[in-house]
Amino acid sequence: MKGIACVAMAVLLGVGFFSVSAFSQEEMVVVDNRVFDAPQRPSSRFEHDAHNEAAEIEDCAVCHHVYDDDGVLVEDESSEDSSCSECHGIADEGRIPNLRKAYHRNCKGCHREQGAGPVLCGECHPW
Ligand code: HEC
Ligand code: HEC
Ligand code: HEC
Ligand code: HEC
Repeated sequence: MKGIACVAMAVLLGVGFFSVSAFSQEEMVVVDNRVFDAPQRPSSRFEHDAHNEAAEIEDCAVCHHVYDDDGVLVEDESSEDSSCSECHGIADEGRIPNLRKAYHRNCKGCHREQGAGPVLCGECHPW
């Protein structure tokens, strides 16, 4: 009996894992914060496709960018196959800002520049 329960549990966990990690950008409503060791805030609101449509952002590389070895932005290439966290670590690395800064500069930076979109903590991290 116990063995069956264990297998059932493993299957359930497995299904949970895959359904979470397989969500696509169309269904994305928050930026997953699980890559942070002990998140201090709830995940930021971000309805990927609806956001980009409302903000009229056509170029994926505005967020999913690619830099060459000299830190020069590569035009006409984008990195949406990679998570931000694959290049941005928990600590700064030379010119590469840490993950929290990377998100804040990208998100808040544009909102400030355009005078549209939230810049206050609670507007993105709801509590
Ligand atoms: C425009 C949206 C936006 C605003 C405004 C914003 N954040 Fe964030 N923040 C994010 C995103 C996106 C992440 C990446 C992970 C996530 O979804 O929480 C993040 C990550 C973080 C993290 C690291 C993960 C964690 O929870 O420990 C902290 C801490 C944080 N934000 C605090 C703040 C504070 C404090 C403010 C206000 C001064 C703020 N944020 C304002 C979007 C925002
Ligand atoms: C393939 C690796 C890679 C991925 C993926 C990546 N970045 Fe970067 N990012 C870099 C590098 C390298 C730099 C530093 C460039 C330099 O030398 O100035 C950088 C710099 C930045 C900067 C500071 C310069 C700027 O453009 O304003 C921000 C903000 C940033 N990244 C946000 C993000 C966000 C948000 C994501 C995910 C949507 C992301 N990055 C995904 C490699 C990456
Ligand atoms: C305003 C910023 C922004 C723009 C513009 C943007 N994305 Fe994203 N996208 C994100 C963020 C943030 C994530 C979550 C990244 C992470 O968790 O590391 C993401 C994740 C993704 C993912 C992974 C989804 C998953 O299941 O994890 C795909 C695929 C993707 N984006 C494709 C695109 C494509 C294609 C475009 C252009 C048509 C685009 N994105 C434009 C910010 C953006
Ligand atoms: C290149 C510019 C740009 C970038 C980058 C950007 N935004 Fe925005 N965002 C906007 C604009 C413009 C609006 C207002 C759109 C409108 O008129 O509804 C907006 C609106 C929003 C809103 C409010 C809309 C709603 O659903 O209630 C949220 C939340 C938001 N952005 C989160 C984020 C997060 C999180 C990131 C980073 C992962 C991000 N944004 C990156 C331009 C940007």
